[in-house]
Amino acid sequence: MTNDLIDRRQAVLGPNVPTFYDNPVHLVKGEGVWVWDSSGHKYLDCYNNVPHVGHCHPHVVSAISAQAATLNTHTRYLHDGIINYAERLIAKFHKGLDQIIMVCSGSEANDIALRMAQAVTGKTGIISTDNTYHGNTMAVSQLSSRKPPIGGYAANIRHVPAPTPFVQLAVVLRLKRRPSLKKSKRQSMILKSQDMVFQVFCFVQPLQMKVSQTYQKTL
Ligand SMILES: Cc1ncc(COP(=O)(O)O)c(C=O)c1O
Repeated sequence: MTNDLIDRRQAVLGPNVPTFYDNPVHLVKGEGVWVWDSSGHKYLDCYNNVPHVGHCHPHVVSAISAQAATLNTHTRYLHDGIINYAERLIAKFHKGLDQIIMVCSGSEANDIALRMAQAVTGKTGIISTDNTYHGNTMAVSQLSSRKPPIGGYAANIRHVPAPTPFVQLAVVLRLKRRPSLKKSKRQSMILKSQDMVFQVFCFVQPLQMKVSQTYQKTL
């Protein structure tokens, strides 16, 4: 079933759209901090960056459904929905942040952020850390060091190494002092340190969910 889905996915989406993990996870539903795969296994979602107030939050589901059933158009018509939303959002911002630009995707947001920075500074140079993903527009694909863009990087882009999480840094420094260690032992220590970073992340993520759930109750 999963293999069949992988083949069909490749056939229609192409081979360059990656999946996570050697055995890709086939998710079928989500609720709050949890997601379920097609065999009924339940996972704590420590990664997903899309539903900020949890999966399928009833308030968000009902707002999207009501709007989809009423009107779906662009921003060049007058509509009070976008203005009401902008006013409520801006009221939560720090003083001085008093306007918003609506976008549909992370790629678009990053693209427009670059344009804003360039408009404000009058400069075009960009410094970007490695191991990042900023989206799929032509501008932001220049920022990723994982997959060089076709035709190479533009002259205004510089990549720098990302800061190493302190646990891993400590492990790597320790290993440097013990060159006699076997390569497999070295790799397993680095993997363990990654695991520790992940566990800290798993601990922090549910707390973040609690904060965001409390926050959305105030909406
Ligand atoms: C950190 C980050 N930036 C940008 C993007 C691109 O967002 P979108 O797919 O909405 O264009 C993603 C998507 O996963 C992301 O994780």
